[in-house]
Amino acid sequence: MKYLVFLGTVRDSTPPKPPRVGERVAKACVHYLEKTFEDADVELIDPLDYELDRVFKPHFSYHQNKVPEALQTLAEKIEQADAYVMVSPEYNHSMSPALANLLNHFGASLYSYKPSAIVTYSAGQWGGTRAAVNMRTFLSELGCLPVSAMIHVPKAQEVFEESGKFAAHVKDVERWVGYFGRTLNQLCWWGQAAKEQRQAYDPRKLVKDFKRDPSQRNAPNGDSD
Ligand SMILES: Cc1cc2nc3c(=O)[nH]c(=O)nc-3n(C[C@H](O)[C@H](O)[C@H](O)COP(=O)(O)O)c2cc1C
Repeated sequence: MKYLVFLGTVRDSTPPKPPRVGERVAKACVHYLEKTFEDADVELIDPLDYELDRVFKPHFSYHQNKVPEALQTLAEKIEQADAYVMVSPEYNHSMSPALANLLNHFGASLYSYKPSAIVTYSAGQWGGTRAAVNMRTFLSELGCLPVSAMIHVPKAQEVFEESGKFAAHVKDVERWVGYFGRTLNQLCWWGQAAKEQRQAYDPRKLVKDFKRDPSQRNAPNGDSD
């Protein structure tokens, strides 16, 4: 099983302190998956590793042999993955613009028929729950349906060290591990089920991807002026 853990922060300045708390949360997800599932092949996707143009041009807008190398590499990773973990901070009660921007560079056909897990965090007490609500819609539209359980980490900078390990003062580590497991074990189950079903029956035989225009999904009476 191939997992991609998307990190949703590119913030490298303060305040608020510390910056890039998301790295800790994303690494904690990587640790959990690697420790829990023997066959897990987990990769952390850091948006800072992908230089995107200032002018928005998604992967699918390039001529096939003109796609920038980094964009093509990530497209292949997304296509080959079996499940996604989407780690986002809450910025103004919304999901991270850096994460949305990175994900928007790829068409739904690359994410489709695979599950995702919503993981949010904040420096304050709400753990990014308000961002999570909208992420469910966003990820559903991308085709990687979020599993029902979600992870929300309030005061994430106090829960995890920079390495993604639990901070020494955290007493209820077992409860935290159980909490992460509720979502990530669901992700594993759905990921495995979807993988087997994709291999048994190609979903594109039933439902075609939208390759040209979103109007391809219009209701019949939506075609007339
Ligand atoms: C532009 C901006 C908006 C923020 N909005 C919220 C918010 O709506 N709710 C919240 O709980 N925290 C909010 N915060 C605080 C973040 O939760 C905190 O800074 C966190 O560390 C951000 O994650 P990052 O360090 O990985 O970028 C905001 C921070 C920034 C920079």
